[in-house]
Order: sequence, then C-alpha cells, then structure tokens
Amino acid sequence: MSLNPKFPNTQCLLHRDRAHNILEIIRLINTEASLAKGNPGWEFEYKPKKRKMRQTAAPVVRKGKEWVHLLEQQNDLPVLPEVVFNIDQMIRDENSSIQQIARAVEAEPGLTGRLLKLANSAFFGGGRQTINSVTMAINRLGLNQVREVVYTIQMPETFAEVPALDHFGFWKHSMAVAILARQLARLARLNPEEQELAYISGLLHDIGIIVFSTLDVRAYEAFLLDVKKADNAKPLHLAEINAFQIDHAELGGAFIRKWWKLDDRIAVAVENHHSVFAERAVHPSTAQLVFVANEVTKDEGFHFGIETSSKYSSEDILLSMGLSKAQAHKVIKDLAETIQQIELFLGY
Ligand SMILES: [Fe+2]
Ligand SMILES: [Fe+2]
Repeated sequence: MSLNPKFPNTQCLLHRDRAHNILEIIRLINTEASLAKGNPGWEFEYKPKKRKMRQTAAPVVRKGKEWVHLLEQQNDLPVLPEVVFNIDQMIRDENSSIQQIARAVEAEPGLTGRLLKLANSAFFGGGRQTINSVTMAINRLGLNQVREVVYTIQMPETFAEVPALDHFGFWKHSMAVAILARQLARLARLNPEEQELAYISGLLHDIGIIVFSTLDVRAYEAFLLDVKKADNAKPLHLAEINAFQIDHAELGGAFIRKWWKLDDRIAVAVENHHSVFAERAVHPSTAQLVFVANEVTKDEGFHFGIETSSKYSSEDILLSMGLSKAQAHKVIKDLAETIQQIELFLGY
C-alpha cells in the first residue's frame, strides 16, 4: 500500500491503528484525495501486502519479552485480510442484508467456489441438498458459520510458510482443533456466538508458531531443526521456553491482541491452549474448549511433525469435560471423518 505524502491525516491514522481501521483509512484517503488540489485523479486501492519472510542481519537469540517488543515494533506483520475484515464487519452490522453480504463474498475472486465447496462438506453440515449459491450458504449455515468458512479459507493464505514446518499438517491440525472445539461448544449447549469463538480460537491457536518465524525466520528455523534432531520428544512449547523463554501460545496471543484486535476471549484461548486445566464445567470457557480440542486432536495422531502427542487419553479428557462415554466415542469417531474432509478441502 503506498500513500501520498500530501495526506497527513491518513498517515497518522495508519500509523496509529493500521489493522482495524482499513475502511476508515480508505474513506479518509478518498476524502483527502478529493480535497487535494492538483491531484484530481488520484485514486487509492488497498492491496494486501505481499508476503515475505523477515531476514535478520546476524543471528540474535532473543529472549522472553524481547520477542513481544519486536512484535509490537514491527509494522509489516500480516494484517487481518481485508475480505475477512469486511465480511466480519458486515455480519456484525444489523443493517446489512443477506444479499449485501453475499455480494461482498462473490466480489472476492476465488472465494465463492471454495466457500461453496466447504459449505457442502460434512463438517459444515453438507450432505442434504447441495448448496449452490452464496445466498443459499448464508441461509443454510447462518451468518456465524459463513464467517467461520471465510476465516478457514483465508488463514492459510495470509501467512507465509515456515521453513522446516509441514504447512499442510499445520493447517490440517488447526482446522481439526477448530471443528472439534465448536463441536464441544455445541455439546455444552453454548450459544452460537460462543460456538463461533471456539471455532476461530481453535483455528488460530498455534498461530504463534508462524509469528515466531515471521519475526525471525532464521532463529526459528534453526530452533525447529534442533527440535527435530533431538530425541527427547519434549513438547514444542516447552522447547520454545527453553530456547526463547517464551512460547508460541504467549506470542500468538500477543499478536492477536496487538495487531488483529479480535474478541479478547480468542487471545485468551490462544495464550492458554497448553495450560488451561480441563475440568468438569457447566459452562466451559473458550480456552477450555480449545485446550481439550487440541489435546484430543493430538492424541488421535493429528499433530504436525514437530508437535508431540498428547499426554492425556482422548476419552479421559472428554469425560473430564462432562461428556458421556457415548458422546466421547462419537466425538472421536467424527474427528477421523472430519480429517478426511479437511484433506479433501485443502487438496494438497
Ligand atoms: Fe500449541
Ligand atoms: Fe495445536
């Protein structure tokens, strides 16, 4: 995104809060552009930043809060994709009609086809009548689930691949945790908003791994290669604390809070996905749901290379959440089918 220096208010706004005011920025730029004499034809077009990996000049081993400071100072971390931001805003706006939201989806190249494919998959309730339009998808799935679909499609494309990490395995695991967290929220009879929070938190729970690499690709790649070489099978987050005095959970939560400003329950769930104790709860928190979904997914073998398996048994941890044996078995059986659907969707 390039800015004309004649538009100082826009520049200030951009520096202050670039992630969450894109529409406001566009409006301001257009206003300033139309006011600026000598620039009658000046036009602004927002284009997502080209992804690139950060290279440090020399290997520096950062520790603890130094990573958070680096994160706060960076101004080229991935922003929440424009299409996700726009659709998110429209869905939250009571005045938006289904037709307006459908048009916003259809205006994004490539999104409609993938949205219909995902909406028809088993994990978004497909299988009955085929969904063949965006309007039909919104009517069938509801606005919350359409938002989940948009996040699911956009996230793997938003972040650059991490060297030494299985990108496909990473997103397969993240999607599985998202779907399972939402299923657990439904079983706990949480409301649709809480189900959606569980889903998006599950999808983003390991995002700190990618943030580490985005901040310092060389340091994190070297770390991952060391982890792979080591035979002691230490959980990834503990190995990170050993090496950097901070883990991907804390860094991922800090990233979401600072740059994406999503619902704070998402940042809390991401921060605690390795540490929340799963206990019987009438109204489990988003963090608890993501913790359990992550452990069950890992115990069923759907972790990615560098992650270790869970130290809990799937059945035990589901029972500890208050599920019956029959429910726990169904959740585990559904997960295997869900993974097959994810693989078809990702199509790697
Ligand atoms: Fe994790
Ligand atoms: Fe995970």
